[in-house]
Amino acid sequence: MNYPIYKKLDSIPADIVSLDDYEQLARNSMPAEVFTYIHSGGADEYTLARNRQAFADISLYSRVLEKFDTASTRTTLLGQEFRHPFLLAPVAHQGLVHQEAELASAQAADALDTGFITSNLASKSLEDIAAQTGGPKWFQLYIQSTREHTLELVRRAEQAGYSAIVVTVDVPINGLRNNIQRSGFQLPPDAQQINIQRVKSQPKELAPDQSVIFQGIMSESPNWRDMEWLRKITRLPIIVKGITHPMDAKRSIELGANGVVVSNHGGRGLD
Ligand code: LAC
Repeated sequence: MNYPIYKKLDSIPADIVSLDDYEQLARNSMPAEVFTYIHSGGADEYTLARNRQAFADISLYSRVLEKFDTASTRTTLLGQEFRHPFLLAPVAHQGLVHQEAELASAQAADALDTGFITSNLASKSLEDIAAQTGGPKWFQLYIQSTREHTLELVRRAEQAGYSAIVVTVDVPINGLRNNIQRSGFQLPPDAQQINIQRVKSQPKELAPDQSVIFQGIMSESPNWRDMEWLRKITRLPIIVKGITHPMDAKRSIELGANGVVVSNHGGRGLD
């Protein structure tokens, strides 16, 4: 990919100690428009701001003087052991910010005993990423425009040793992100989505009373039938990512999903 990182660091600078420090370091380490792509939310970013506020608003009501000699953060999720209840979320196109991309992130997850979720839009092959970590690894799936392509991805994930499928359902089309529009950022032509085959959909002939949105660009977006089909074709646990409504959570579980990720895509979809 044509976006080299501007500064390569051999060690973590001494003044980088908190998450916000890393954000600042990232801002200074890559082209401004790439940072904008990573950092932006949908539209006016009301959702992004509320996400951050909601997190800041969580308070802990603490107890004191307990004994901690047998304390542990170990947990079991879907029958899989985690040393602590964290997984790295699927983040697309990591090759934009580092040439080792997801191979390096998967190694970092492995080193810190953290679960790793490989994005469907990873810059490296899902098999190569899987080989970088012995820890729990899940594969994030976008339902493709043909079942044949979706099936192939699921089979590849199974064979590469992924232990769950995380199917993202909250961006049937990518969110419109005003800050990215302003920055002029476009994915470089060589930002190949190496795990998926782009099927060029034919422009649709619409009748005069049809909607460009509903019968046009959203005509291939996934629906609950695709979820039923997905449940039939794999024995891996399925986690539906991007659920915000209780009825959708309920429906996911009724269809045989093993869990949901309550998420609005980091505020990057519908604002
Ligand atoms: C995004 C898509 C790729 O949030 O998931 O940019």
